[in-house]
Amino acid sequence: MTLLEILAIVLTLVVAFSIVYSTLKTGISPMMSSNKACQAMIDMVQLPQDKPLIDLGSGWGTLVIAVAKKYPHQQVIGYELSWFPWIVSVARKYFLGLDNLTLYRKDFTKADLSSGSVLFCYLFPQGMVALHEKLEAELSCETYIVSSTFALPKTKPTKTIKLNDIYQTHIYKYHWQPTQDLN
Ligand SMILES: C[S@@+](CC[C@H](N)C(=O)[O-])C[C@H]1O[C@@H](n2cnc3c(N)ncnc32)[C@H](O)[C@@H]1O
Repeated sequence: MTLLEILAIVLTLVVAFSIVYSTLKTGISPMMSSNKACQAMIDMVQLPQDKPLIDLGSGWGTLVIAVAKKYPHQQVIGYELSWFPWIVSVARKYFLGLDNLTLYRKDFTKADLSSGSVLFCYLFPQGMVALHEKLEAELSCETYIVSSTFALPKTKPTKTIKLNDIYQTHIYKYHWQPTQDLN
């Protein structure tokens, strides 16, 4: 075995281990949204908006890149914890020359979400509970939330659609208004 082959195997193992580790840590793998789901999520809100669009867990960049490409004058932000998908998404951003896209390697539960006009997410049940608690505790401005697959607890969606795909994916839209009790 050559040194190059050994390096390739070690690198593959490190990447695989890091993805498994961050999946166990965050509660969800960096599974990407399908083209159909991305399009449906983008169509759920009126764009462009005056404040940035934020993807909570931007993974490999599938959704944020689709949004940033479609709306080049719209600021788009992604937060992602898993370092390898994040590096790939940053490489894709530079390769595509998307100056309107900012990708942070950061836990979105520690970010200021009040700067966003739309929060996109494709998380998991416990992640939606954590997001709901954060919104209730911190968000004092009107915001749209578009979630793929998992609903926000104790909150009534303003719109729900079911995609005609193998998972029958649900997309939920919420209009978060802090002064109004939506529970
Ligand atoms: C199912 S993937 C969705 C990826 C992308 N949004 C898309 O639609 O293609 C969910 C991502 O959320 C990330 N994630 C989960 N919890 C997070 C947190 N608290 N902060 C940042 N990223 C998180 C995971 O690492 C994973 O990459």
